[in-house]
Amino acid sequence: MSSTPLKVAVTGAAGQIGYSLLFRLASGSLLGDRPIELRLLEITPALKALEGVVMELDDCAFPNLAGVEIGDDAEKIFDGVNLALLVGARPRGPGMERGDLLSANGAIFTAQGKALNKVAADDVRIGVTGNPANTNALIAMTNAPDIPQNRFSALTRLDHNRAISQLAAKTGAAVTDIKKMTIWGNHSATQYPDVFHAEIGGKNAAEVVNDQDWVENTFIPTVAKRGAAIIEARGSSSAASAASATVDAARDWLHGTPEGDWVSMAVVSDGSYGVPEGLISSFPVTTKDGDWEIVQGLEIDDFSRAKIDASTAELADERNAVTELGLI
Ligand code: NAD
Ligand code: LMR
Repeated sequence: MSSTPLKVAVTGAAGQIGYSLLFRLASGSLLGDRPIELRLLEITPALKALEGVVMELDDCAFPNLAGVEIGDDAEKIFDGVNLALLVGARPRGPGMERGDLLSANGAIFTAQGKALNKVAADDVRIGVTGNPANTNALIAMTNAPDIPQNRFSALTRLDHNRAISQLAAKTGAAVTDIKKMTIWGNHSATQYPDVFHAEIGGKNAAEVVNDQDWVENTFIPTVAKRGAAIIEARGSSSAASAASATVDAARDWLHGTPEGDWVSMAVVSDGSYGVPEGLISSFPVTTKDGDWEIVQGLEIDDFSRAKIDASTAELADERNAVTELGLI
């Protein structure tokens, strides 16, 4: 294992997700014993709060935290970063859909895409958590023409983890027995959590569940609307679980998916499964050495086809909206 610190940027570092994410990163959840250098970006008014968070990071005396730099200048913070976790963006409140955040948050990703394009390390990987995550990733990618498109992804791992947890609760299986879960499409209420290709203890999950009514009317809406349910209950959006999923996604991207399993990541479509090329849409992917590949050859029945089409149509609408806003 390399002893050179990996330079990891986190934006929105003084926010709710940041308050959980930074400590997970610094304590080794991403890299184990490999040293990590944190580069934390915030807007100017939040820098004082961020200084307080850094005091707390210091107070943890994490053995593998090789350094922390904070600032409000994206070009300085992103300089030489190997991984950029773009979290900083406004969260939605009760009654809003994530797509309602496009005009408020889109411009953040234009500027950050440009800055990454200029100063990030040649091997940079960029994970977008800030909502609407898929289209924000599209904005960042489009504004960073020198960075290969496969270095961008948006977070649907939280939905993936939610789907596994719901399926485990329904069947009594351990979460570790559930493999090949897929979230298709947008990180939004139209997303399609797919049990038909998932496995529980090596058996087809839909057959184990054997309850199409539960799949259609309980499982899918529970997973797809979980973010709203948390906002309703907590008064603010998911934070610790979002941080945990952000770590899971980055870790698997850098270190690879286990044999016999895959993960859900929103990545640029090459047209696989009829998803329009160029959209950042969630797929089943395997990863190896920092690269991902869309799992090929899955049979898509009419039910799944309609769900995937509905979610990717929403992504196409979002792409049109940000094109009209001049963000891409
Ligand atoms: P928060 O409001 O607590 O924190 C956001 C932080 O971003 C704030 O500190 C703010 O100052 C900062 N920020 C705003 N503009 C910035 C910029 N240009 N550069 C750097 N920092 C900037 O919000 P949160 O709860 O941490 O959520 C952050 C985002 O993550 C929201 O958009 C939320 O909807 C999204 N989210 C996504 C998922 C997912 O699964 N993809 C899950 C949960 C939350
Ligand atoms: C989530 O899924 O919890 C986040 O995207 C926050 C939200 O707005 O739902």
